[in-house]
Amino acid sequence: MKDADAFNLAFESSCDDFSCAVLYKNGKDVKILSNVIYSQDFVHGIYGGVVPELASRNHIKASLPALRIAIDKAGIKLENVELISATSGPGLVGSLLIGLMEAKTISFALNIPIVKINHIEGHIFSPFLETAERFPFIALVISGGHTHIYIVKSHGDIRLIGRTRDDACGELFDKVSNYLGFGYPGGKIIDVLAEKGDKEAFKFPLPMFHSRNLDMSFSGLKTAVISAIDSLGGPGKIKKETACDILASVREAVAAVLYKKTAAACRMYGIDTVAVSGGVSANSRIRSLFGDYGKNDGLRIIFPSVSLSTDNAAIIGYAGFFKTPVDPVKNREEFLNINADSSWEL
Ligand code: KG4
Ligand code: ZN
Repeated sequence: MKDADAFNLAFESSCDDFSCAVLYKNGKDVKILSNVIYSQDFVHGIYGGVVPELASRNHIKASLPALRIAIDKAGIKLENVELISATSGPGLVGSLLIGLMEAKTISFALNIPIVKINHIEGHIFSPFLETAERFPFIALVISGGHTHIYIVKSHGDIRLIGRTRDDACGELFDKVSNYLGFGYPGGKIIDVLAEKGDKEAFKFPLPMFHSRNLDMSFSGLKTAVISAIDSLGGPGKIKKETACDILASVREAVAAVLYKKTAAACRMYGIDTVAVSGGVSANSRIRSLFGDYGKNDGLRIIFPSVSLSTDNAAIIGYAGFFKTPVDPVKNREEFLNINADSSWEL
């Protein structure tokens, strides 16, 4: 599709959000015409995490309304669509299947070319929906399932150079929030409460801070935070102000580790542009710490706007413009082989 102008209909359903978007590309200019997101935070909140079966059942309910609203909001008709982009992994297989099969059905019925997109690739390029692209760059993807560092030389050249060896940083926030009884998804809640706390109040360990490689670890930090809560009497006994101090301190520790590893990657590869993405990149302290330290270190740090940080179909559509689409008639076998791949690694 590379240089063609096109209306692009995009689907994202890898976890608990169902999203459908319409984008338009005119030369190098990409516009989001609609980006509808059905969130299921209230469905999964009471369970303290995503229940896969519930996520896919709710995706089924959302799938047709989301499509209709996305098309209406964009002011086009389904027949105007020239390209379809859909997440096909990684993620929950039942969730992935709903969006992907809706996309394939439209592709087949209306004979519209389709591209399958890796969810992480969607995040990696998300800042460029709003800022001009500049290669090469270091990509830090921080979400509920990922804390990964990549070197990106072009749309087709993405190499993993560092990753968490255990928990993702979003998972740490979600688990700590749950433990304190503040609910799910925890990242956003922690961010708000941490603003009221003192980030110097607790000195938490910074796992792998001084290691020579770009890998990270967050499960030890999670254990340290839970131990600190327990030593103060446990979740039910802790004062709100103390909880805010703990949250501010853990948020600071996470931001410090993420920056240290990202800056090390820049030095290692002689690169000065950094794109930070994924749900955790919505975090206000991560944004301010990266901004301040990055300026000092001469790095150009780019974030997507907060609404494009968490899962949404517009970022999947953007990545789709740079792929070679599969024609459902001319490339029938390839088309039929497009399937959900829950553990698709970039
Ligand atoms: O990218 P995303 O929407 O879904 C995945 O691909 O996982 O990221 C979700 C993660 C969750 O762990 C959530 O708690 C976290 O992003 N998150 C945040 C914030 N908003 C969402 N973490 C820290 N600060 C936030 N403001
Ligand atoms: Zn995501």
